[in-house]
Amino acid sequence: MFSSRGARLRATAALATAAMLALAGCGGGNGDGGDDGATGGGGDELIRVGFSQLGAESGWRTANTESVQASLSEENGIDLTFVDAQQKQENQIRALRDFVSQDMDVIAFSPVIETGWDQVLQEIKDAGIPVVLVDRTVETTVEDPFVTWIGSDFRAEGVTAGEWVAENHPDAQIFELQGTMGSGAQVDRQEGFREIVGDQIIGEASGNFTRAEGRTAVEAALQAYPDLDLIFSHNDDMGLGAIEAIEAAGMTPGEDITIVTVDAVKDGLQALVDGKFNFVVECNPVFGDQLAELINQVHAGEEVPEQTFVEESAFDQTITQEFVDERPY
Ligand code: AHR
Repeated sequence: MFSSRGARLRATAALATAAMLALAGCGGGNGDGGDDGATGGGGDELIRVGFSQLGAESGWRTANTESVQASLSEENGIDLTFVDAQQKQENQIRALRDFVSQDMDVIAFSPVIETGWDQVLQEIKDAGIPVVLVDRTVETTVEDPFVTWIGSDFRAEGVTAGEWVAENHPDAQIFELQGTMGSGAQVDRQEGFREIVGDQIIGEASGNFTRAEGRTAVEAALQAYPDLDLIFSHNDDMGLGAIEAIEAAGMTPGEDITIVTVDAVKDGLQALVDGKFNFVVECNPVFGDQLAELINQVHAGEEVPEQTFVEESAFDQTITQEFVDERPY
């Protein structure tokens, strides 16, 4: 019904140069050739992939992890080592170093924040292991730090949310409930949203993409900003926490306070059908199959796009219960 598409990658993007692709084709030096081009692979040996997931903070993340684990499978030519960093950058860096010492063929990771990766990215590069970046982005001084990236256009998501607010609530007093500070999802959603309705924002705080911290942040906001009448939440989980805080304060979410969120996981869309959310911008977590194909291509030394944006949409209260019931995540 609403579509959002754009083309901006915050990272210092790696060009899929011939040199890098040749490096990728060497498979990090464990000698398994790299001749198994397409997903499913034609080679004898599986591609050894180390994947560092940033955490399990949200419904979106759970769906993303399920998609990655289902698709990075032996059937698709991949032997997956999956490590959950519990939202801590130091855990991710440790996992990435472990992947280097295990001489993985390909390293994939979803970075919890954008900065602080220079050293470990250089170590991976020095080891000759190709990196596939997933979901969030990095800012780094390392040249050609990754071969390819797949994820969402977070800035476009913020713009879509802002445009809906500008059209439907042009006088709203907005509280912005931000995700993990310094993450690509927070930085770019904020930038896109503020480009459209930045002058209407009266307060902001981070809820770290979790329901509990979202609730706490909104409890404080209701005290600090009694005039707020619209919340832009950077994800559904924090928006669900906002519902709890608003109801606990004796108000009606979706009526007294308009709620706009990002993700469109099942619980978020249920809140939309129930009239507690007002508008939800989709952030699609189900791209495991595309990721598996990219990994196979990278390992085979084939040319890959520098960046792949997943398909996304947006929803208002006209969606039906049937639509929500059919939502797979
Ligand atoms: O990076 C994607 C974001 O991370 C999702 O919007 C959010 O729910 C998750 O925590």
